[in-house]
Amino acid sequence: MALFKRKEPLLGIDISPSAVKVVELSRSGARFRVDAYAIEPLGEGMLEDRNPVDPEAVGEVVKRACRNAGVRTRRAAVAVPTSAVITRTIPMPIEFKESDIEVNISIEASQYIPYPTEEIYLDFQVKGRSQASNEMQDVVLVATRKENVDTREAALKEAGLTPVVVDVEGYALENSFGLIADSLSQANAESGGVNLSKGREGLTALIDIGGVVSTLYVLQGSQTVFSREQGFGCDQLTLRIAEAYDLTREQAERAKRSGQVAEDFADAILEPFKQGLAEQIGHTLQFFFSSDLYVSGRYTVNNIVLIGGGAMVMGLDRVVADVLGITTMVANPFKNMGSAARVNSSALLRDAPLLAVAGGLALRSFD
Ligand SMILES: Nc1ncnc2c1ncn2[C@@H]1O[C@H](COP(=O)(O)OP(=O)(O)OP(=O)(O)O)[C@@H](O)[C@H]1O
Ligand SMILES: [Mg+2]
Repeated sequence: MALFKRKEPLLGIDISPSAVKVVELSRSGARFRVDAYAIEPLGEGMLEDRNPVDPEAVGEVVKRACRNAGVRTRRAAVAVPTSAVITRTIPMPIEFKESDIEVNISIEASQYIPYPTEEIYLDFQVKGRSQASNEMQDVVLVATRKENVDTREAALKEAGLTPVVVDVEGYALENSFGLIADSLSQANAESGGVNLSKGREGLTALIDIGGVVSTLYVLQGSQTVFSREQGFGCDQLTLRIAEAYDLTREQAERAKRSGQVAEDFADAILEPFKQGLAEQIGHTLQFFFSSDLYVSGRYTVNNIVLIGGGAMVMGLDRVVADVLGITTMVANPFKNMGSAARVNSSALLRDAPLLAVAGGLALRSFD
């Protein structure tokens, strides 16, 4: 597995429970451009434990997404879910070279990984000198069960693509966040640069609200210092619409997306849902607020950034800001990018929060 291998243009392919998302980027000078993108729904049950059940069927959807997007390259990057990956920072002597690290990492792995070594893929990334000692370097061990990688690679091959990079969702998001951070500092400056931190360093809470699972990432710069997955998401809104108006799930999903439901929808369903979602985000943040890192008193959270399907819920950012008292915005990783003529730019603006993982994967070819 080449978790960190980087080369020429790549398609970013996010195979997530609700849809396959494809992004192709190009760069001229310092400016990026969205050359192609598509979001192609996945039927219920096509993923299990977030992995493709039948790579051939999922591959068909990937193929359709690529065709609809009009992509030009066959080389692709995919990501395994953050929750399917075990990472450990291991200090090693500073004089260790790649080959020494490679030998030692597999010995270390057996201590940390609860699976037989033949069932996992292992990789590592050298982070640089350890903070604790000048004689040591931090090496991040990354491990995942083979099936998490193999099922995704198989789906890409079925779609006629060449899998070149297998990344981790959280790392792909860090990559996208590099772009989001620019608009964040713009927004903070425009709002007068409110400083709630009282000497504490300000961190950003990135919240990926999916269909049934949401993940909080706390970022310092563009490095994740805390993450936590919670079982809530936007499918709940679909279920409530279906129940209240006696619709099938598909009808409710369509109604949710169009916003055209019933006259009392906003008051009876949407507003309470947003309020509940904001409270759940607050509960998830409490896990960070009770972590050693936060309790140390060095940090505060001064921005919340929303991505994923939840960020598509109209006005959620305002409700979250009101409930939690923290500046909140919907992420758009493509804000400072151009787009090719075949890309519908207003649709891209709308869909951007859903494309953070795929966009981060596509960026891999340029780091
Ligand atoms: N245009 C839209 N308007 C409102 N909701 C939407 C829209 N598009 C998608 N959603 C909702 O977003 C949710 C899926 O979000 P997303 O695609 O981020 O999740 P996922 O990455 O597939 O899954 P997860 O992150 O849970 O593993 C679903 O509940 C879906 O109904
Ligand atoms: Mg997702």
